[in-house]
Amino acid sequence: MSLITKVFKGDFFHTLGLKKFQHLSNHVLGVNLYGKIEFLKPISELDELRNRYKFQESIIKDLGNGFMVPGFVDAHAHAPQSVNVGLGTDLPLLDWLIKYTFPTESKFQEADYANLVYSRFVKRNLQQGTTTTCYFGTIHLDSCKILVDLCTKYGQRAIIGKVNMNRNSPDNYIETTSDSIRDTEAFVEYVKNQPTDLVEPIITPRFVPTCDPDLMYQLGEIAKKNDLRIQSHVSENKDEVAWVKDLHPECKSYSDVYYKHGLLNDKTIMAHGIYLTDEERKLYQKVGASIAHCANSNFTLSSGCLNLRQLLDMGIKVGLGTDVSGGYASSMLQCIRDTIICSKAKSFETQDKHNEIDFREGFHLATLGSAKSIGLDHKIGNFELYKHFDALWVKTDVENGPFDSFNTDSIEDRFQKWIYLGDDRNIHKTFVNGKQVK
Ligand code: GUN
Ligand code: FE
Repeated sequence: MSLITKVFKGDFFHTLGLKKFQHLSNHVLGVNLYGKIEFLKPISELDELRNRYKFQESIIKDLGNGFMVPGFVDAHAHAPQSVNVGLGTDLPLLDWLIKYTFPTESKFQEADYANLVYSRFVKRNLQQGTTTTCYFGTIHLDSCKILVDLCTKYGQRAIIGKVNMNRNSPDNYIETTSDSIRDTEAFVEYVKNQPTDLVEPIITPRFVPTCDPDLMYQLGEIAKKNDLRIQSHVSENKDEVAWVKDLHPECKSYSDVYYKHGLLNDKTIMAHGIYLTDEERKLYQKVGASIAHCANSNFTLSSGCLNLRQLLDMGIKVGLGTDVSGGYASSMLQCIRDTIICSKAKSFETQDKHNEIDFREGFHLATLGSAKSIGLDHKIGNFELYKHFDALWVKTDVENGPFDSFNTDSIEDRFQKWIYLGDDRNIHKTFVNGKQVK
C-alpha cells in the first residue's frame, strides 16, 4: 500500500481489448506516489478507501460532467518533419522524400534548430493529449539526444530512434556504415543512462531502400544484443515495393528483407503495410511484429487504403500513427477519424461492412492498441491497476469549444462527440506518470 497523491471521481472510459470498451461511471481512481494507478473502484467504496489509504477529502477532484481517458499513444511520427505539416501534399512517397523531406531533415545537423523545432512539437503533442509518441529523429546523434532531453524536460513518454541511412540518399544527408553504427550505439547508451525511464531507445533503419544489407544486418545485431525495439517502414507505396523487389531479388518479399536481416520480430513496429501479401501478413502473425496504421499519411501521399480489419482479424498487433508529416495532422483524435474514414472507404471497395471500424475501436487502437504495438502495454494504454497514470481529463462544456453539448446528451454521447469533433480545447489536463504536464 502506498501514499495516494491524486484522486479523481466521476466517469472513466477505457478499453480492455478491441471489442472491450468500458465506461465506468461514478468511480474513483487513486494515483500513488510512484505515479501509478493504485485503485479504480465504484464511488460507494470511497469511505473504505479513505480509511484504508488515509487521504484528505481535499485531494479528491470531481470530473464533473467531463470524463477521464487514457492518454493517446502515437505509434509513428517523425519529429523533424513537424516543420512541414500541411506542406508538400502534392507528391507521392519517393518524390516527396527527395523534394521535401530529406532537405528538411538534413537541417537537423544544427542543434539549435533541433531544439527549437523539437520543443514546440513535444509541447504540442502534450497539448493535444498525446502522452506517448514513438518518434523517428534524423541521422544526427546530437539532435536525437536533444529530443530525448526535451521529452524528459516536458514530461512526454517517448520511444526515440536515431534514423539510419547509408544508400540512395542525398550527399548532404547520408552516413557511412561505421558512423551509422557508432552513433546508434552511442544514442542507445545515452538513452539508457537517463535518470528516468520515460524515454526508451529504438533501432530505426529508415526503410530498405536507404539501408544496405551490411547496415541492416549490423542494426539487427545491436537490437538483438540489447533486446531493443525496431521500427521502420514497409509496403507503403507501389513504386517503393517494386524498388525493394529490384534491390533484393534474393528475398521473397519486402518484409522478408527485414526478416532475413534480423529486423522483424515481436519487438518490431512497421509503419503502413498497405501492400503486404498474404504470406507477409502470416509472417507478422507468426513472429508477432506489429503495424502502425497511418491513415492520414496514406491519403495525403496518395499511398493507398489499408485493409485494417484484415490485420485485426488475424490477431496482428496494430497501433495508430500520425506519420507527421506524411500525415499533416499531429492530433490522435484526427488520426482516429481518418482511421474510421479509411475503413469505410475499404468497406465500399470490398462491399463488406465488416471492414468498418467504429469510434470505440478507433479509440481502443489510439490507446491500448498503440501501446501494445510499441510494447508498452505493460505500463500504459488503459486504467488497469498499477499501470502508470498517463491520462486526459476531458471537458465537453468549454466556452467557444469545437462543438456543443446539451443537457439531453448522455455522457456516452459527449464521449462520441468528442471523438468526432474534439480538439485541444477539450483537454482540461494531461497527466504522464501521475504528473500534470498540461
Ligand atoms: N519511408 C521512408 N521514409 C519515410 C518517411 O519519412 N515518411 C513516410 N511516410 N514514409 C517513409
Ligand atoms: Fe513514417
